[in-house]
Amino acid sequence: PSRVTIRTLAKMRRDGESISMLTAYDFPMAQVLDEAGIDVLLVGDSLAMVVQGHSTTLPVTMDQMLYHAEMVGRAAKRAMVVVDLPFPEGQLSIRRSIAASARVLKETQCHAIKLEGGAEAAKRIDAIVTAGIPVMAHVGLRPQNVHVDGGYRVQRNEQQLIADAKAAEDAGAFAVLIECVPSDIGKAITDAVSVPTIGIGAGKNTTGQVLVTHDLIGFHSGYLPKFVRQTANVRSVIRDAAATYADSIRRGEFPADKESF
Ligand code: KIV
Ligand code: NA
Repeated sequence: PSRVTIRTLAKMRRDGESISMLTAYDFPMAQVLDEAGIDVLLVGDSLAMVVQGHSTTLPVTMDQMLYHAEMVGRAAKRAMVVVDLPFPEGQLSIRRSIAASARVLKETQCHAIKLEGGAEAAKRIDAIVTAGIPVMAHVGLRPQNVHVDGGYRVQRNEQQLIADAKAAEDAGAFAVLIECVPSDIGKAITDAVSVPTIGIGAGKNTTGQVLVTHDLIGFHSGYLPKFVRQTANVRSVIRDAAATYADSIRRGEFPADKESF
């Protein structure tokens, strides 16, 4: 299958097609999501929470992001792969943001970066795109701002959210991710820009949808936000597989003759 690129995504928006996006953090997961036909894989800084076990996205480092991005980029044959700039690579100097973004293209086979920000990040987005690195902007709820926001909250400032998305588009962002806004605002933002929008908790009127894969497949024990649809329970599959294995050992039943030399 031919590679999904920023041009494919732009065409999907023009043609009224919907974009599917999921997070991936390692080779086998990226490979199976790619085979399933997911259009965009995101090496999200959510890996701090769902892989590393932290309670926010803040602790994950750039080197750790690159370690995971390298595996995902190597696995994906069709999907476009986007990598989050972790805190504070998108908050320090623009020069530093360009350097961090360039490492994604130089040290992995991934294709673009995502950073949290809208209007106030416009100069930064422009500089990264000018350096040759595609940027997806991320507006609405910004998990890296959790401490100044005093928690994770639905974002309702419609005028500001529209201004953020338009500024990101004007700065050259190829898409805008919208997190945790009321459905009518998700639609208003999408109507205000011509680049694809990808929603998470932003209603059904965005160009595409994204979820954290571990939420979708039931692979962690943490809190599930209202916007998650869980379509599998991988945790219970793994727990049963491990318990069955332990039990067969305790009963002296594993390994059987056919599993022995
Ligand atoms: O880090 C992440 O997984 C994300 C998605 C929730 C959009 O940014
Ligand atoms: Na993120």
